[in-house]
Amino acid sequence: MDTLEEINVKGFADEYIDPTLDLFDEISRLKKEKNAVILAHYYQEGDIQDIADYIGDSLGLSQQAAKTDADIIVFAGVHFMAETAKILSPKKKVLLPDIKAGCSLADSCPPHLFRKFKEAYPDHLVITYVNCTAELKAMSDIVCTSSNAVGIVNSLSPEQKIIFGPDRNLGRYVAEKTGRDLVLWNGACMVHEIFSREKITRLKERYPEAKILAHPECEQAVLDLADYIGSTTGILRYATSSPDKQFIVATEAGILHQMEKDNPDKEFIPAPPNNNCACNDCPHMKRNTLEKLYLCLKNEIPEILVPEDIIARAVKPIERMLEISAELGL
Ligand code: 13P
Ligand code: SF4
Repeated sequence: MDTLEEINVKGFADEYIDPTLDLFDEISRLKKEKNAVILAHYYQEGDIQDIADYIGDSLGLSQQAAKTDADIIVFAGVHFMAETAKILSPKKKVLLPDIKAGCSLADSCPPHLFRKFKEAYPDHLVITYVNCTAELKAMSDIVCTSSNAVGIVNSLSPEQKIIFGPDRNLGRYVAEKTGRDLVLWNGACMVHEIFSREKITRLKERYPEAKILAHPECEQAVLDLADYIGSTTGILRYATSSPDKQFIVATEAGILHQMEKDNPDKEFIPAPPNNNCACNDCPHMKRNTLEKLYLCLKNEIPEILVPEDIIARAVKPIERMLEISAELGL
């Protein structure tokens, strides 16, 4: 097996896998043997979603991580999600199939620069979107996700001044929905900021009956076209409960797996990006594969480790988010 240095360079523990091995069976066997649970985000490849014990959006995955009684959490998602699970369950071993599965949005907000930004607004409360590093969470008052951001801001007194980071698109959407004047950090997601309003408009001409569903990390020009705006769970629920049969989906393409599984009679069309790439895959989310998931559960590496002092500070704003979400029935 690779050394720790090699794992840090490659992102995962590389090892020969017998091609005749049934990875689904092996993963299920290891899960039982080690009392492990697999939590997967909707942006993971279909095979990973199918073997997971729980699939969800960022809020649902955090709620599961906080309450699981498993000894090991295999987090099939990106680094900040696994880190959040570790902060909520510090005594458990949290594994990420590929330690290099990062997030462009989290990267767009370096903690040392955010600290300076925060210092310029000393009387402001700091709300950070969960897509950020543990260090940033440790500097925050409340964490939020795309499914509870509006509710969290609405739960605060109207006089309360607020800094919102790192996603400027979600921040602008929350400001509009709540009528609040938020001070925004200028960050964005590489997948959601490149959907093309023009191409979506042309697609809508080909599919005039289709409803447009968008994640709030999209730019305003795209959200203006949307019939529904929400988190991945919100988008899935909307499509499932809607009587409509066609949907143009402006978020990462992994969500289509569950949408199609739950709604075999409906058609889901990925919204096109403004470049010539054929798909809307997040390169970070898609670093994880079934093979890497198997190896990480087998060898219990790569493991997410967060310094104790960061955990002690970061857990408070995350727990605050979970409390407010419970009060809001989310
Ligand atoms: P959700 O919380 O809606 O699942 O979004 C996570 C994410 O990374 C969006 O890009
Ligand atoms: Fe980060 Fe965007 Fe990938 Fe979500 S889709 S994990 S925000 S880079």
